[in-house]
Amino acid sequence: MSLQTLSEWLRCPNCFLPLSPTGTLRLGCSTGHSFDVNKRGFINLLTGAPKFIGDSAAMLDARDTFLAAGWYEPLQAAVRAVISAEHPRRLLDVGCGTGYYLRAALPPGEDVRALGMDLSPTAVSRTMRSHDRIDGLVADVWSPLPVQDAAVDVILNVFAPRNAAEFHRVLRPGGLLLVVVPRPTHLHELRRAGLAVEMQADKAAHLEASLGAWFALESAQQMEQNAALSAAEVVSLIGMGPSSHHAASAGPESTPASVQDVTIAFDVFGFRRRATELC
Ligand SMILES: C[S@@+](CC[C@H](N)C(=O)[O-])C[C@H]1O[C@@H](n2cnc3c(N)ncnc32)[C@H](O)[C@@H]1O
Ligand SMILES: [Zn+2]
Repeated sequence: MSLQTLSEWLRCPNCFLPLSPTGTLRLGCSTGHSFDVNKRGFINLLTGAPKFIGDSAAMLDARDTFLAAGWYEPLQAAVRAVISAEHPRRLLDVGCGTGYYLRAALPPGEDVRALGMDLSPTAVSRTMRSHDRIDGLVADVWSPLPVQDAAVDVILNVFAPRNAAEFHRVLRPGGLLLVVVPRPTHLHELRRAGLAVEMQADKAAHLEASLGAWFALESAQQMEQNAALSAAEVVSLIGMGPSSHHAASAGPESTPASVQDVTIAFDVFGFRRRATELC
């Protein structure tokens, strides 16, 4: 990370003018707004109190532990394949979590860079630490993004919230939005046992409806596998997502050890940026 590479992605969250280095660990705009860059090298450009909170350190620990077991490696490889076909020079991961997909998908090349964005400063810090060509940004996807217009070739969005209009603005013309969402069968055994929260039934249809004005669906890949998890892996899987709160209140008959054969199923969608918004 350098202040220069970090600033090249960004715009001021208050007046939307470009940010540039103004001190050892500061970025500022020409209006006079100024922001500290964290010692660890990432910047927090949240304005006001966000309505939601990002993942906690405990959830990120559980995510790290579960992902290290390798069950999501096929998904990581699928994400990498879609992204490498795009030959991006600038890659943005919105809701980057621990950076598991971003660091694997970042193509080689000194001038190829990525920006890991998340609401959780702990997530951004971990993502940045995982690769020396990743810059870090704490921001809320539901606010105007502090990212410059057309600054990005590919946006990666894995199990994280989306802002279609803002994604369209920050992607360059012809850029790609890669979205991964769980399929209806994903973890259905855990839901049946009361160990995981219900999820939106028609996620894929909803996705197309919410993105369609700005993006055209170009590719869709369905992935499904059965995983024979250890009890410890079930605990990490539950702990890394929204079900972590729910599981705490599940009855004694629903223990992670009682459900270990689990379906893992994803949709991987490639959406191409439309030249103009459809009316
Ligand atoms: C289910 S996790 C997925 C993390 C990562 N993409 C992965 O699959 O390993 C969702 C991530 O989105 C982040 N997030 C939630 N709400 C957000 C928001 N409003 N703006 C930005 N990030 C948000 C969370 O902090 C969390 O890291
Ligand atoms: Zn400003």
